[in-house]
Amino acid sequence: MKNTVVTFQNAKNEHRKISMLTAYDYSTAKMMDEAGVNGILVGDSLGNTILGYKDTLSVTMEDMIHHGKAVARGVNNALLIIDMPFMSYQSSVYDAVVNAGRLVKEAGANAVKLEGGTGICPQIKAIAGASIPVAAHLGLTPQSINAIGGYKVQGKDEEAARKLIDDAKAVEAAGAFALVLECVPSKLAKLITETLKIPTIGIGAGCYCEGQVLVYQDMLGMFPGFTPKFVKRFVNVGDIMKEGFATYCREVQEGSFPSKEHGFDIPDEIIEKL
Ligand code: KIV
Repeated sequence: MKNTVVTFQNAKNEHRKISMLTAYDYSTAKMMDEAGVNGILVGDSLGNTILGYKDTLSVTMEDMIHHGKAVARGVNNALLIIDMPFMSYQSSVYDAVVNAGRLVKEAGANAVKLEGGTGICPQIKAIAGASIPVAAHLGLTPQSINAIGGYKVQGKDEEAARKLIDDAKAVEAAGAFALVLECVPSKLAKLITETLKIPTIGIGAGCYCEGQVLVYQDMLGMFPGFTPKFVKRFVNVGDIMKEGFATYCREVQEGSFPSKEHGFDIPDEIIEKL
């Protein structure tokens, strides 16, 4: 059954959890969709995971549309949310609506996500007003990396925690259908979750949010060098992939792959005539 923003709200109302993962390509999205994930986020984390940038700031609308289209082709049932990249909505309300519209029309998004609180409420209101469901994102907001000075847990002192609560209420009032909370202390995420009517989706925000989202390469162990504290490695696909690549290299070098069974036949009499 197709997940929609209504399904997400019903999940909160009926105390059911929401599962979400990031995806950036067709085949991965198709596997996740078939596995029954409720939401797929084409995150601007593709700047790090797919394009190899050190942060998400260089990601463009064209990057998001390109990867969004590929993911959309693999999704039947999950709610497809596509991130609005840095400077596609901060610059003006007009830019925000036009670019959110592009993600729906050109890439096939069911909803968009943007980072920030009170400051971007006019954008949330205008996008939602154009009938485009919009998810907000608070806590650690990677597009503000130069302003917040590092990838660290947010809302740890009273002032910062109050600001997060106020921002959460503001984005809900502006019309967000869900709120992603990234790297926020668990009890603060619980308070926000209990305060809001819309569902919260946590990443590094503990166990009290209605939903969870993870970057799929993290939960599959595809970046063995670094695993954030909040990530659980469900399988070690990175090791399995490396082993597969190494075995392939060895067999090609030894001449054991391809063998006869991997080739195509042609009648001998044709070869003899050549
Ligand atoms: O870009 C992304 O992958 C995200 C998630 C970390 C929530 O915004």
